[in-house]
Amino acid sequence: MLHVRDLTVGYHRDTPVVRSVSFDLPTPGVYAIVGPNGAGKTTLLHTLAGHLRPTSGSVVLDGRDVTGLRPHRAARAGIALAPQGRRLWPSLTVAEHLTVTRPTRHDDRPGLSVEDLLDLFPPLATRLRHHGHQLSGGEQQMLTIARALRTHPRLLLADEPTEGLAPRIADQVTAVLRDLPDRGVAVLVALPHAHAATALADRVHVLTAGRLSVPLDPDGEQANMLLRHHLTLTTAPHRE
Ligand SMILES: Nc1ncnc2c1ncn2[C@@H]1O[C@H](COP(=O)(O)OP(=O)(O)O)[C@@H](O)[C@H]1O
Ligand SMILES: [Mg+2]
Repeated sequence: MLHVRDLTVGYHRDTPVVRSVSFDLPTPGVYAIVGPNGAGKTTLLHTLAGHLRPTSGSVVLDGRDVTGLRPHRAARAGIALAPQGRRLWPSLTVAEHLTVTRPTRHDDRPGLSVEDLLDLFPPLATRLRHHGHQLSGGEQQMLTIARALRTHPRLLLADEPTEGLAPRIADQVTAVLRDLPDRGVAVLVALPHAHAATALADRVHVLTAGRLSVPLDPDGEQANMLLRHHLTLTTAPHRE
């Protein structure tokens, strides 16, 4: 479904932040990228969403080359970003966030309507007339994800979606992410902690200093290894 090859990107010439990263998301599922602060998780997700242009490498979604597309074109191609830190629009209400953002793709999958999204995130239904700053952190995160899902994506990029949330609220958010593949939406989630990633994802990659590990199966020995070594794992070169 998504094929990323040798992706290199940075903010300054000659100092790449993400270094020759390759991975595949074969079918709709939940995939996690785990890495410590500064590893390059946000940089990688922003590149996939079109906010940064890669220095080299390619991104192919459903057979279509989407490398370096501008954000609105990437959205139309089926990539949606729920950014780290939520970044809601301060002057808009919850209802307006969900109606201003419209489906950008048209295919034969039934998209998620506003009603569907309020079913997924019931707390938002009671907050429709409130502004972002009046919401709790959990509600803000739910709205950030709901807004991204409104574009009818094929791939949702969720950047630290449980950051700063109480465990019970974090569980609600991850439960929704866990269900999205059944609705035809693949999820690529960036997380700072291995235990959250192994609980949520079908596959985990570790990103350390801009280099990505081989995919790890969160069940069994690999997950144990990931947890034991946490984020001090040395990264192995990507293998096909
Ligand atoms: N806008 C920016 N300009 C310059 N450097 C940046 C910018 N954003 C991030 N960086 C640098 O890129 C590296 C990776 O950051 P980031 O992608 O935010 O990592 P993570 O999301 O894993 O914490 C860090 O060294 C950070 O300082
Ligand atoms: Mg980040």
